[in-house]
Amino acid sequence: METIIAASLLAADFAYLADDIKKAEASGVDWIHYDVMDGVFVRNISFGEPVLKSISKLITLPIDAHLMITDPIRYIDNYADLGVNGITFHFEAAHDVGAVIDKIRSRGLKVGLSVKPATPVSMIIPYLSRVDMVLVMTVEPGFGGQVFLPQTLDKIKELRKYIDDHKLDVIIQVDGGINKETSAVVRECGADVLVSGSYIFNAENMAEAVKSLR
Ligand code: DX5
Ligand code: ZN
Repeated sequence: METIIAASLLAADFAYLADDIKKAEASGVDWIHYDVMDGVFVRNISFGEPVLKSISKLITLPIDAHLMITDPIRYIDNYADLGVNGITFHFEAAHDVGAVIDKIRSRGLKVGLSVKPATPVSMIIPYLSRVDMVLVMTVEPGFGGQVFLPQTLDKIKELRKYIDDHKLDVIIQVDGGINKETSAVVRECGADVLVSGSYIFNAENMAEAVKSLR
Protein backbone atom coordinates (compact mmCIF):
# COMPACT_ATOMS: atom_id res chain seq x y z
CA MET A 1 0.00 0.00 0.00
CA GLU A 2 0.94 3.68 -0.36
CA THR A 3 2.67 5.04 2.72
CA ILE A 4 0.41 7.18 4.93
CA ILE A 5 2.02 10.16 6.67
CA ALA A 6 0.55 11.47 9.93
CA ALA A 7 1.72 14.83 11.33
CA SER A 8 1.99 14.84 15.13
CA LEU A 9 0.64 18.11 16.53
CA LEU A 10 2.80 17.66 19.62
CA ALA A 11 5.59 19.34 17.63
CA ALA A 12 3.45 22.30 16.54
CA ASP A 13 3.89 25.76 18.05
CA PHE A 14 0.89 25.92 20.41
CA ALA A 15 0.87 29.72 20.25
CA TYR A 16 0.07 29.36 16.54
CA LEU A 17 -1.76 26.06 16.53
CA ALA A 18 -4.32 27.03 13.89
CA ASP A 19 -1.57 28.25 11.54
CA ASP A 20 0.47 25.10 12.08
CA ILE A 21 -2.53 22.87 11.39
CA LYS A 22 -3.17 24.72 8.13
CA LYS A 23 0.52 24.45 7.19
CA ALA A 24 0.58 20.73 7.97
CA GLU A 25 -2.55 20.10 5.93
CA ALA A 26 -1.10 22.10 3.01
CA SER A 27 2.16 20.13 3.17
CA GLY A 28 0.53 16.97 1.86
CA VAL A 29 0.24 14.83 5.01
CA ASP A 30 -2.61 12.32 5.10
CA TRP A 31 -3.64 12.34 8.76
CA ILE A 32 -3.37 14.60 11.81
CA HIS A 33 -1.99 12.68 14.81
CA TYR A 34 -3.19 13.85 18.24
CA ASP A 35 -1.04 12.69 21.20
CA VAL A 36 -2.92 12.65 24.50
CA MET A 37 -0.70 12.18 27.57
CA ASP A 38 -1.99 11.91 31.12
CA GLY A 39 1.11 12.34 33.31
CA VAL A 40 0.54 8.81 34.68
CA PHE A 41 0.97 6.31 31.87
CA VAL A 42 3.69 8.64 30.61
CA ARG A 43 5.40 11.37 32.60
CA ASN A 44 4.41 14.21 30.33
CA ILE A 45 1.02 15.94 30.07
CA SER A 46 0.25 17.20 26.57
CA PHE A 47 -3.28 18.26 25.67
CA GLY A 48 -6.72 16.70 25.82
CA GLU A 49 -10.36 17.25 25.03
CA PRO A 50 -10.77 21.06 25.31
CA VAL A 51 -7.95 21.71 22.85
CA LEU A 52 -9.24 19.08 20.44
CA LYS A 53 -12.72 20.55 20.68
CA SER A 54 -11.40 23.94 19.54
CA ILE A 55 -9.16 22.72 16.76
CA SER A 56 -11.28 19.90 15.35
CA LYS A 57 -13.35 22.43 13.40
CA LEU A 58 -10.20 23.54 11.58
CA ILE A 59 -8.97 20.05 10.73
CA THR A 60 -10.15 18.61 7.43
CA LEU A 61 -7.92 15.50 7.40
CA PRO A 62 -8.67 12.34 9.39
CA ILE A 63 -7.78 12.70 13.08
CA ASP A 64 -5.71 9.85 14.49
CA ALA A 65 -5.94 9.97 18.29
CA HIS A 66 -3.05 8.34 20.18
CA LEU A 67 -4.10 7.90 23.80
CA MET A 68 -1.13 7.53 26.14
CA ILE A 69 -3.41 7.31 29.16
CA THR A 70 -4.07 4.81 31.92
CA ASP A 71 -7.33 2.87 31.71
CA PRO A 72 -8.20 4.33 28.28
CA ILE A 73 -11.72 2.90 28.17
CA ARG A 74 -12.81 5.83 30.37
CA TYR A 75 -12.18 8.27 27.52
CA ILE A 76 -13.27 6.47 24.35
CA ASP A 77 -16.74 8.05 24.21
CA ASN A 78 -15.35 11.54 24.78
CA TYR A 79 -12.89 11.28 21.88
CA ALA A 80 -15.47 9.62 19.65
CA ASP A 81 -17.84 12.53 20.38
CA LEU A 82 -15.10 14.95 19.32
CA GLY A 83 -15.06 13.45 15.85
CA VAL A 84 -11.79 11.54 15.67
CA ASN A 85 -11.53 8.87 12.95
CA GLY A 86 -9.51 6.35 14.87
CA ILE A 87 -8.34 5.75 18.43
CA THR A 88 -5.10 4.03 19.30
CA PHE A 89 -4.57 2.95 22.90
CA HIS A 90 -1.73 1.22 24.69
CA PHE A 91 -1.72 -2.48 25.39
CA GLU A 92 0.20 -1.75 28.61
CA ALA A 93 -2.38 0.79 29.84
CA ALA A 94 -5.57 -1.27 29.54
CA HIS A 95 -6.99 -3.66 32.16
CA ASP A 96 -9.08 -5.44 29.55
CA VAL A 97 -7.67 -4.97 26.06
CA GLY A 98 -10.60 -6.73 24.36
CA ALA A 99 -13.12 -4.47 26.09
CA VAL A 100 -11.35 -1.34 24.86
CA ILE A 101 -11.27 -2.72 21.31
CA ASP A 102 -15.01 -3.44 21.48
CA LYS A 103 -15.74 0.00 22.90
CA ILE A 104 -13.88 1.81 20.10
CA ARG A 105 -15.53 -0.45 17.53
CA SER A 106 -18.99 0.23 19.01
CA ARG A 107 -18.47 3.90 18.16
CA GLY A 108 -17.71 3.06 14.53
CA LEU A 109 -14.06 4.13 14.73
CA LYS A 110 -10.84 2.55 13.51
CA VAL A 111 -9.11 0.63 16.29
CA GLY A 112 -5.38 0.95 16.92
CA LEU A 113 -3.40 -1.06 19.47
CA SER A 114 0.02 0.23 20.51
CA VAL A 115 3.06 -1.34 22.13
CA LYS A 116 5.95 0.37 23.90
CA PRO A 117 9.48 -0.53 22.76
CA ALA A 118 9.96 -3.18 25.48
CA THR A 119 6.65 -4.98 24.88
CA PRO A 120 7.07 -7.99 22.59
CA VAL A 121 4.84 -8.41 19.54
CA SER A 122 3.79 -11.85 20.84
CA MET A 123 1.73 -10.13 23.55
CA ILE A 124 -0.64 -8.54 21.03
CA ILE A 125 -0.88 -11.40 18.52
CA PRO A 126 -4.14 -12.66 20.14
CA TYR A 127 -5.82 -9.30 19.35
CA LEU A 128 -4.62 -8.78 15.78
CA SER A 129 -7.74 -10.09 14.08
CA ARG A 130 -9.81 -7.51 15.99
CA VAL A 131 -7.86 -4.32 15.24
CA ASP A 132 -7.29 -2.15 12.16
CA MET A 133 -3.83 -0.90 13.06
CA VAL A 134 -0.90 -1.74 15.31
CA LEU A 135 1.31 1.11 16.49
CA VAL A 136 4.87 0.03 17.14
CA MET A 137 6.39 2.82 19.24
CA THR A 138 9.88 3.56 17.95
CA VAL A 139 10.75 5.72 21.01
CA GLU A 140 9.57 5.52 24.63
CA PRO A 141 6.18 7.27 24.55
CA GLY A 142 5.97 10.59 26.35
CA PHE A 143 8.01 13.16 24.47
CA GLY A 144 8.53 14.39 20.93
CA GLY A 145 11.97 14.93 19.44
CA GLN A 146 13.58 11.72 20.71
CA VAL A 147 16.04 9.54 18.84
CA PHE A 148 14.65 6.52 16.98
CA LEU A 149 15.33 3.17 18.73
CA PRO A 150 16.76 0.70 16.15
CA GLN A 151 15.90 -2.31 18.35
CA THR A 152 12.26 -1.76 17.35
CA LEU A 153 12.96 -2.72 13.72
CA ASP A 154 12.79 -6.45 14.41
CA LYS A 155 9.33 -5.95 15.89
CA ILE A 156 8.10 -4.21 12.75
CA LYS A 157 9.49 -7.06 10.61
CA GLU A 158 7.98 -9.72 12.85
CA LEU A 159 4.59 -8.07 12.73
CA ARG A 160 4.77 -7.57 8.94
CA LYS A 161 5.51 -11.27 8.49
CA TYR A 162 2.72 -12.37 10.81
CA ILE A 163 0.14 -10.07 9.16
CA ASP A 164 1.14 -11.18 5.66
CA ASP A 165 1.34 -14.90 6.53
CA HIS A 166 -2.12 -14.79 8.09
CA LYS A 167 -3.55 -12.41 5.46
CA LEU A 168 -4.84 -10.04 8.14
CA ASP A 169 -6.35 -6.67 7.31
CA VAL A 170 -4.13 -4.72 9.71
CA ILE A 171 -1.82 -1.81 8.96
CA ILE A 172 1.40 -1.05 10.83
CA GLN A 173 2.08 2.42 12.22
CA VAL A 174 5.38 3.66 13.64
CA ASP A 175 5.79 6.71 15.86
CA GLY A 176 8.87 8.43 17.24
CA GLY A 177 12.11 9.70 15.71
CA ILE A 178 10.84 9.42 12.13
CA ASN A 179 12.82 11.52 9.67
CA LYS A 180 14.21 11.23 6.17
CA GLU A 181 16.68 8.48 7.13
CA THR A 182 14.61 6.40 9.55
CA SER A 183 11.52 6.55 7.31
CA ALA A 184 13.32 4.62 4.59
CA VAL A 185 14.35 1.93 7.07
CA VAL A 186 10.90 1.47 8.63
CA ARG A 187 9.23 1.38 5.22
CA GLU A 188 11.71 -1.33 4.21
CA CYS A 189 10.71 -3.31 7.33
CA GLY A 190 7.02 -3.06 6.41
CA ALA A 191 5.58 0.02 8.12
CA ASP A 192 2.48 1.51 6.42
CA VAL A 193 1.80 4.65 8.47
CA LEU A 194 4.59 6.97 9.59
CA VAL A 195 3.93 9.48 12.37
CA SER A 196 6.30 12.41 12.36
CA GLY A 197 6.37 15.48 14.59
CA SER A 198 9.58 17.45 14.91
CA TYR A 199 10.94 16.49 11.50
CA ILE A 200 7.86 17.93 9.76
CA PHE A 201 7.19 20.96 11.96
CA ASN A 202 10.83 22.06 12.20
CA ALA A 203 11.41 21.78 8.46
CA GLU A 204 12.18 24.89 6.38
CA ASN A 205 9.95 23.42 3.71
CA MET A 206 7.25 21.16 5.15
CA ALA A 207 6.08 19.82 1.79
CA GLU A 208 9.63 18.74 0.92
CA ALA A 209 9.99 17.08 4.32
CA VAL A 210 6.74 15.17 3.86
CA LYS A 211 7.79 14.07 0.39
CA SER A 212 11.10 12.80 1.76
CA LEU A 213 9.22 10.50 4.16
CA ARG A 214 7.30 8.70 1.43
C1 DX5 B 1 5.63 10.36 21.46
C2 DX5 B 1 4.46 10.67 20.56
C3 DX5 B 1 4.84 10.99 19.16
C4 DX5 B 1 5.72 12.20 19.01
C5 DX5 B 1 6.58 11.98 17.82
O1 DX5 B 1 5.19 9.83 22.66
O2 DX5 B 1 3.58 9.57 20.49
O3 DX5 B 1 3.70 11.10 18.32
O4 DX5 B 1 5.02 13.39 18.86
O5 DX5 B 1 7.43 13.05 17.72
P1 DX5 B 1 8.79 13.02 16.89
O6 DX5 B 1 8.42 12.77 15.47
O7 DX5 B 1 9.34 14.36 17.15
O8 DX5 B 1 9.62 11.90 17.46
ZN1 ZN C 1 1.96 9.54 18.94
